[in-house]
Amino acid sequence: MLLFYLTFLACLVVPSVSVKHDTFKTCAQSGFCKRNRAFADNASSISTWQSPYALDPNSIAFNDGKLSGTILKKLDNSKEKVRLPIIITFLESGTVRITIDEEKRQKGDIVLRHDSKVRKERYNEAANWAIVGGLEPNKGAALSNDAGTQTTKVLYGPAGAYEAVLRHSPFGIDFNRDGKTHIQLNERGLLNVEHWRAKVEKETIEPKEGEEQQVLQDTATESTEDESTWWEESFGGNTDSKPRGPESIGLDISFPGYDHVYGIPEHASSMSLKQTRGGDGGYTDPYRLYNSDVFEYELDSPMTLYGVIPLMQAQAKDSTVGVFWLNAAETWVDIIKGKSVANALSLGVAGKSSTQTHWFSESGQLDLFVFLGPTPKDITKKYGELTGYSQLPQASVIGYHQCRWNYVTDQDVMDVDRKFDKHRIPYDVIWLDIEYTDGKKYFTWDPLNFPHPDKMHKQLDEHERKVVVIIDPHIKNENNYHVDEDLRNKDLGVHNKEGSISEGWCWPGSSHWIDSFNPAARAWWKSLYQFKKFIGTAKNTFLWNDMNEPSVFNGPETTMPKDNIHYGNWEHRDVHNIYGMTVHNATHEGLIERKKGEIQRPFVLSRAFFAGSQRLGAVWTGDNLADWGHLRAALPMLLNQGISGFPFVGSDVGGFFGNPTKELLTRWYQSGTFYPFFRGHAHIDTRRREPYLAGTPYTQIITQAIRLRYSLLPAWYTAFHEASIDGSPIIRPNFYVHPSDEKGFAIDDQLYIGSTGLLAKPIVQEGAESADIYIADDEPYYDYFDYTVYSGKGSHTYKAPLEKIPLLMQGGHIIPRRDRPRRSSGLMRYDPYTLLIVLDKAGNAEGSLYVDDGETFDYQQGAYIHRKFSFNQETGILSSEDISTKGSKTAAYLKAMAKVRVERVIIVGAPNSWKSKTQVSIAEEGAKDSSKKKSVSLQYHAAAGGKGSWAVVRDPGVLIAKGWKIDFS
Ligand SMILES: *[C@@H]1O[C@H](CO)[C@@H](O)[C@H](O)[C@H]1NC(C)=O
Ligand SMILES: *[C@@H]1O[C@H](CO)[C@@H](O)[C@H](O)[C@H]1NC(C)=O
Repeated sequence: MLLFYLTFLACLVVPSVSVKHDTFKTCAQSGFCKRNRAFADNASSISTWQSPYALDPNSIAFNDGKLSGTILKKLDNSKEKVRLPIIITFLESGTVRITIDEEKRQKGDIVLRHDSKVRKERYNEAANWAIVGGLEPNKGAALSNDAGTQTTKVLYGPAGAYEAVLRHSPFGIDFNRDGKTHIQLNERGLLNVEHWRAKVEKETIEPKEGEEQQVLQDTATESTEDESTWWEESFGGNTDSKPRGPESIGLDISFPGYDHVYGIPEHASSMSLKQTRGGDGGYTDPYRLYNSDVFEYELDSPMTLYGVIPLMQAQAKDSTVGVFWLNAAETWVDIIKGKSVANALSLGVAGKSSTQTHWFSESGQLDLFVFLGPTPKDITKKYGELTGYSQLPQASVIGYHQCRWNYVTDQDVMDVDRKFDKHRIPYDVIWLDIEYTDGKKYFTWDPLNFPHPDKMHKQLDEHERKVVVIIDPHIKNENNYHVDEDLRNKDLGVHNKEGSISEGWCWPGSSHWIDSFNPAARAWWKSLYQFKKFIGTAKNTFLWNDMNEPSVFNGPETTMPKDNIHYGNWEHRDVHNIYGMTVHNATHEGLIERKKGEIQRPFVLSRAFFAGSQRLGAVWTGDNLADWGHLRAALPMLLNQGISGFPFVGSDVGGFFGNPTKELLTRWYQSGTFYPFFRGHAHIDTRRREPYLAGTPYTQIITQAIRLRYSLLPAWYTAFHEASIDGSPIIRPNFYVHPSDEKGFAIDDQLYIGSTGLLAKPIVQEGAESADIYIADDEPYYDYFDYTVYSGKGSHTYKAPLEKIPLLMQGGHIIPRRDRPRRSSGLMRYDPYTLLIVLDKAGNAEGSLYVDDGETFDYQQGAYIHRKFSFNQETGILSSEDISTKGSKTAAYLKAMAKVRVERVIIVGAPNSWKSKTQVSIAEEGAKDSSKKKSVSLQYHAAAGGKGSWAVVRDPGVLIAKGWKIDFS
């Protein structure tokens, strides 16, 4: 949401409307990016290049899974060496953590003004925000006996099967598994720790009044280096002062034998990342990671976007490995691919391609986690052990969300609500963008247009619907506005470099930003959401934190000056990519504490994110455009986000800016029905486009797409549950499901829903009437709607005129769904289920269902149902088995669900031998006389005209909360 302000604040310093390249730095315009690239170029062009870093063998100590030592950095013009303490922790999970710090920076502050200080240390608190577990060292890790004088070897991981080989001089680490090297650190010699040094004034400048002279350090200057951006850097009319001088850290990370790398969201790029130093189809700039409000972002670009997850995984046939670069400062990643020559023997895959990456951040410690896989699931699970899994959301937020900037009055909201009902279109949540407030003052309502928020909430609650309201972290700078007065009086805002509260421009005009790193600010922010304080909100109000990159309209690159100062005297530079997460976190916690004794699961949508944000709610891909390119770009972005540990994501359906054609809008809804977060949204300047306005046949087709979502909610919720316990993506790319299938590694335009075997390939081309779906294995795949069979590895053409969504079911799965259309998900709570049994080539199938109250945290005390369904062709038995763990609230929940039954069982690919079968027998758990089986009729439909055979059992009378067996033999 940026354009709006341009029109009415045109007097401000904003270069142009076609933003992008003028507003945002290229690598060449970013001092440390340029320096690290120059360093890399230097290293690769000098044949005798040697990395100046060596691990001092005498410094190495190894204890309880932890290796510590000192790396010495040789300087060009000095005998003195820079001392860099390194700690390598071998974790119980098989993950390795490497941190590199710098002795000279380890303590103290730098005084800027009498009352303004900057911490001299390298930022070391990113882990406090990102990491929530998984740090137990592996006491079984052991130094290997055969270690020579040139290397130190550590055996670790499951049964000691992993090996880390530390090269002393020049320093480097190889990570081995199964006798092969999978990850190499500093193999190319690009480790670069810009060390502490004193500023050498070319001319003597009198210190300004009140400014202290900096203590001179004794290191020499390196005259061959480009010093122009060491102490100060200007861009777009803003000057960034750098009181600590150059302090970037860089490292090369190579993946020998790996063709594909994924991850490091958020970029509008392909899921399989491209080369960044030119080459065929490659980019010329590195992927940039710096949370930014990018107006009308361009596609197929390594430019940074709203959020950052510095997790990368590499994929080769049957092997997945990964790295997590835990740093909250601006970061860039270069990627090059090529034949691996070095170390070809130890790879055992001579001639295979390799991927080499180069990471650098502007400040902070080097803090790196290394994962050796070997499956994609191992990466998401272990990364999640560290940064947490996505919280199980309210069930209603998995339904459809209707948003617009803006629903203009409370009457308008209630009118839209009635129209959805009139057209029988289900939806769960209606959203209010900034215009509901009184003059962009958050925590208030516009008295003219929203005089009765309570009445509005009540009407929505009648059909169990929710309202989401927006609250941004910029607080209007205005007297007599209680929120801003609190912020000023209690000193809870971010400070500028002079030490006073930082002021900038955003929606309300002049604004202050909450410093949510400050515990007092967080406590205050949380209190603002209490029902008694945020008058007009109710139990069915949820939240949206936008603009939390943070977006500052008149700031450098539309964000906060890097030399602003946060709680604890850290520069904004150090914490930039975490800021949005701290806001999101405080809001999330605020919702939990809204009312004593009435705890329900919060829902907060955020635009900015970092590693760990997945614990706090959902994100979306920001301000996209109503064009086919943006529709196409969404899926790779969402898939990439899902494999990077943050699966609860979506893109604005219809496109935020501009007016979609009816065809585009329809295809977008068909695509959106597969987004984990499914929301239609539109800019204030666009025409109204609620689904019921599209007209025949579009409204009907869109309604079908939304209903498909609602019918499959049990499967979706089960996938969300899986994500919440082991980090599995909710929508999964081909490589994640088929890590042996090299042909499918780059595919990012089709998806599997959770573990359901549902494979969708939404249409994203204008005028397209068919899609080519790629099938990676030799299982039968059936059309979801009419059971047409598609089988055989490779590409299959699926006919898809406008009313059709390409959706297949992979053999071998059992899919739970609910077939009765309702107004909202809440109203489906006690509806009966349909089980869709899709047999694999051997005639078996398996699936699961997770269900709970969808609202409270009672599931943590066992208030849930978790069933495993299986069909075995040998016995001919379909069974429902309990896989839950009981708790104090199990019994009450089971009682509430006691009458919910299975109303239909459909078996797709039913064997020929059932042709003359008319009955199946049923045995229920706890039945008084188990010998007295009940019989129910079965209808068999033979395969015909390309469609598979199927059978249906209507109303078998079995209950969802109980065990049972249906005997088809
Ligand atoms: C390039 O390498 C040479 C030789 O090690 C060194 O003297 C020079 O400072 C380096 N330049 C840069 C930009 O790193
Ligand atoms: C929010 O932040 C606090 C303070 O760092 C932390 O204790 C808490 O675990 C975070 N909440 C979530 C859900 O991550």
